[in-house]
Amino acid sequence: MNYRRLGRSGLKVSELSLGSWVTYGNQLDANAARECMAAAWDRGVNFFDNAEAYALGKSEEIMGEVLKKLAWPRLKYVVSTKFYWGITDGPNEKNTLNRKFLLNAIDASLKRLQLDYVDLVYCHRPDPNTPIEETVWAMHDMIERGKALYWGTSEWSAAEVMAAWQLAERHHLRKPVVEQPEYNLFHREKVEKEFARLYEDIGIGLTTWSPLASGLLTGKYRNGVPAGSRGALPRLKFMVADLTDKAKNDAVAKLAPVASELGCTLAQLAIAWCASNPNVSTVITGASRASQVEENLAAADVIPKLTREVLARIDAIVGAQPA
Ligand SMILES: NC(=O)c1ccc[n+]([C@@H]2O[C@H](COP(=O)([O-])OP(=O)(O)OC[C@H]3O[C@@H](n4cnc5c(N)ncnc54)[C@H](OP(=O)(O)O)[C@@H]3O)[C@@H](O)[C@H]2O)c1
Repeated sequence: MNYRRLGRSGLKVSELSLGSWVTYGNQLDANAARECMAAAWDRGVNFFDNAEAYALGKSEEIMGEVLKKLAWPRLKYVVSTKFYWGITDGPNEKNTLNRKFLLNAIDASLKRLQLDYVDLVYCHRPDPNTPIEETVWAMHDMIERGKALYWGTSEWSAAEVMAAWQLAERHHLRKPVVEQPEYNLFHREKVEKEFARLYEDIGIGLTTWSPLASGLLTGKYRNGVPAGSRGALPRLKFMVADLTDKAKNDAVAKLAPVASELGCTLAQLAIAWCASNPNVSTVITGASRASQVEENLAAADVIPKLTREVLARIDAIVGAQPA
């Protein structure tokens, strides 16, 4: 496993990491989560992604329980959480990045994670109803109070990230160092085009999500929704149309020969492709079982095999031009 700097910050994260969305608290209990995290750790993963909203706090509770059990030295791993949606009802508890919500939310997350601090904390979505300046001050204060080490955003626009960075620069506050966007073979525009100026100009790193487009890029949805898959979960019904989209599944079928020529699986090809973008600090993988973690993390060996020629073949198949 290689480790990359999180943007211009000095923090190093494994180029492949593991997150808990959908899985912990819905598909996986603490024992199964422990197997997945231990499998990732054994393969060099040092970054574990989480969020307050995942399974309404249960995901943080499970990760906290696992971290306690595995008892890794705190210096050796990086944990994140994210705030925006909230998990209780009330005008200052949902869909907000206001100061009151953020400074309460971090305390509750730390309790669930059984940690003194998180390494990374994200503003999970932009909040049009709170001035960015108020959010930047709150994130700065969270760090100054020792509750988080670095902060960033998730699914903000380039203009919003730039505004937050410039406000922090102007007031000598802690700056955002990372964005967490979706990035996979079917979802590239934001990372490759809209964000282009953020990397060099203000040193933003990326922790990207859904490298397999929720499993679509493994080829498992080519003949419909398999039992036991994410697409079969009742609350994720809204994803089925995309997961079973014919054009996308046809493209996945065409990627299969490229994967077999490289001696890897489709999942490994798709994950390695995300990591082949040098602006990506880490690709956050997801898994509903330890065997998927093992398969997916072996993508680290595929990254060097993605030459310009291979990348051009992939581009021709998915119908996108390189930025
Ligand atoms: N910031 C945000 O807004 C945001 C949003 C989404 C995710 N994230 C983060 O990104 C992480 C990864 O996202 P994701 O879970 O959507 O990633 P993904 O890689 O696109 O999808 C992971 C899912 O695909 C299936 N899968 C994984 N490996 C497989 C394999 N080798 N063979 C067959 N199926 C496989 C599993 O689901 P089944 O086995 O159940 O089919 C697994 O849970 C999340 O855990 C979270 O930390 C962040």
